[in-house]
Amino acid sequence: MENSSDNRKVVLTCAQPTGKLHLGNYLGALKNWVSLIEGNECYFGVVDMHAITIPYVPADLRKNVYDCVAQYIACGMDPQKCNLFLQSSIVGHTELAWVLGCICPLGQLERMTQFKDKSRKHAEAINSGLLYYPVLMASDILIYNADIVPVGEDQKQHIELTRDLAQKFNFTYSDTFKVPEPYIPESGARIMSLQSPESKMSKSDPNQAGTLYITDKPDALRKKIMSAVTDSDSEVRFAPGEKPGVSNLMCIMAAFTGESMEQIQADFAGKGYGYFKKAVADVVVEGLTPVRERYEQVVADKSLIEEALKRGNEAAQRRADKIMSKVYRKVGFLKI
Ligand code: TYM
Repeated sequence: MENSSDNRKVVLTCAQPTGKLHLGNYLGALKNWVSLIEGNECYFGVVDMHAITIPYVPADLRKNVYDCVAQYIACGMDPQKCNLFLQSSIVGHTELAWVLGCICPLGQLERMTQFKDKSRKHAEAINSGLLYYPVLMASDILIYNADIVPVGEDQKQHIELTRDLAQKFNFTYSDTFKVPEPYIPESGARIMSLQSPESKMSKSDPNQAGTLYITDKPDALRKKIMSAVTDSDSEVRFAPGEKPGVSNLMCIMAAFTGESMEQIQADFAGKGYGYFKKAVADVVVEGLTPVRERYEQVVADKSLIEEALKRGNEAAQRRADKIMSKVYRKVGFLKI
């Protein structure tokens, strides 16, 4: 599992344990992580340190970490085949973040879309952690010298910053980090809210009818999909600007079935939105039911989750230590 002397690529990615994972997380991220496990060395993190950049309750955070790992396993991340780790358990993430912060221009952080969005949403609590968030994320990636970072489209800007910081560090201190590549899926990279399809599907959407959770029961999934916002005509056609609601449902269908937009358009020509939504609901229920069933088993088994994390943390720490000792030496920190 942990062997970088062969040709396997190192894959690293993470999600925040801020609640249940939704369909955007699944289609934009988790589904692809699973497809990368075979043949690569994978590190999948639960980033609890990022999760405290917005208001939260410590007891909920603890529960959400278990929940997040259970959902990872339920989605197919077999802890025997990949390393599941908890960010706060690994020594080095925040140390590297500090080093990277010292070469990161402040202006670049202030321009980050996610910082601006979250500052708007949490105007009463704009803390420095929120601003520093992308540097910690760069550190999550570079500390494993990752080759590939599978993410949804909303993380593209953060990966760009990570690449900039890797290059800047290499230029300033000599070659140390690989410059990681983002891996963004063709369909499902940006799933939108079912109720306000101009904004992305999110855990913090005030209108929860717009968010499908991967552990929702079939009835709840169907109800939300059947009441998804569409438009006043009845043509199933892919046109995100003009028909954002229908186009979003088409993306969801395409991400599950692998069909092209043309195929979906042809299949549902003249059939109307009710019929189309029912078909989308069928596909989503069929795709998520095994995930929910597995989740219910795994989440009830705390020791399985703890074992998985223990194993993954150890592997992650070994890899992080190697890179950190190089970094400390290069920046001139004495080891006495
Ligand atoms: P987070 O927890 O918000 O989301 C986890 C993953 O889900 C993707 N995603 C989406 N994809 C499609 N449509 C959506 N509506 C949607 N919403 C979320 C995200 O792109 C992400 O891939 N900053 C990261 C966590 C992070 C990280 C890292 C990721 C911390 N360190 C290092 C990669 C590498 C985040 O907030 O993810």
